[in-house]
Amino acid sequence: MKSSSRKNSHEWEAERLEPPPVPDLSGPWRGTGRFSFSPPTPPLPAMSWNRKHLLDIESLTTDEILTVLDTARAFKAVGERAIKKVPALRGKTVVNLFIEPSTRTRISFQLSEQRLSADIINFTAEASSLKKGETLKDTARNLEALNADFIVIRHSASGAPHFLARVLNASIINAGDGAHEHPTQALLDTFTIREKKGRIAGLNITILGDVLYSRVARSDLWALTKLGAKVTFCGPSTLVPREFEQMGARVTHDVEEAIRDADIINLLRIQHERQRKTMFPSLGEYTSLFGLNKDRLARTKPDALIMHPGPINRGVEIDSEIADCPRSVILEQVTNGLAVRMAVLFLVNGGKGPQEISA
Ligand code: CP
Repeated sequence: MKSSSRKNSHEWEAERLEPPPVPDLSGPWRGTGRFSFSPPTPPLPAMSWNRKHLLDIESLTTDEILTVLDTARAFKAVGERAIKKVPALRGKTVVNLFIEPSTRTRISFQLSEQRLSADIINFTAEASSLKKGETLKDTARNLEALNADFIVIRHSASGAPHFLARVLNASIINAGDGAHEHPTQALLDTFTIREKKGRIAGLNITILGDVLYSRVARSDLWALTKLGAKVTFCGPSTLVPREFEQMGARVTHDVEEAIRDADIINLLRIQHERQRKTMFPSLGEYTSLFGLNKDRLARTKPDALIMHPGPINRGVEIDSEIADCPRSVILEQVTNGLAVRMAVLFLVNGGKGPQEISA
């Protein structure tokens, strides 16, 4: 574990974006204008959420993670009704500030916001004044000047969401920052595992692939270990260094051993866009040594589930037929992302938990 005096990587990165003097946004926060649902019968246990932002999983408590998961379960039930829309964010404005490509996360946030009745601004980096040299801070402050209540940000720089949380008054939601964290992906992964297996504690979860450059791997590790899972990182030694053991992962470079007892095999693609040098001889060699193929799948537990955050590189980290096989829950992850993101937006708007949502 990290020493408390050491700075997190995202803090260093954020300082590179802008020097630190910032308003103090700490302390309890209460949102306004949220709607009330009639309480379900029998009442669910009271849960509590007091955060204005969702910046990472590392700083969340186990109770906070469970509150998001249980709130998402309630929103999933809402999503199965004929009328799927609720007024939770009516009158609120959400900016989707995606400065790095995304399909799943961007679309999922947009639909979640629509389901919660928010007004939405979809910022397109390519068509923006970022191209003319405007800084992230100035761009975001201009968006806030239009009364943005929430900013959902994806950025290639680790720490960009933390930086915005310090310089703006809006609620900030991290939709993926560099190789640091991807909190809503971890929450939807955890939600999917819990839904499928009925628990997280005691499960063997193997995360296989380019761990070094993966924000999903880091966020998954925090979420799953806080809930009692045993997490193994596996891949080439250049992409899975032993240092991850200090964060609570088991590290191995032996793929057969890593998948043999796994209840969940979560595959990661090779993130060429973040690698600064060649980390292995060729994609073909990576596939033969670490790719999940039919032969390897046959040596796993018969009920082991296959997960992938996407985008998939078929034929590289996963054989095409395995991506589509009955044990793959890859598209269910995408479906669950909607309920999880509705839950996150509901909670950062001042919602307390699932007890406020009637299905
Ligand atoms: N899982 C994920 O973050 O996918 P996108 O990059 O398409 O959002």
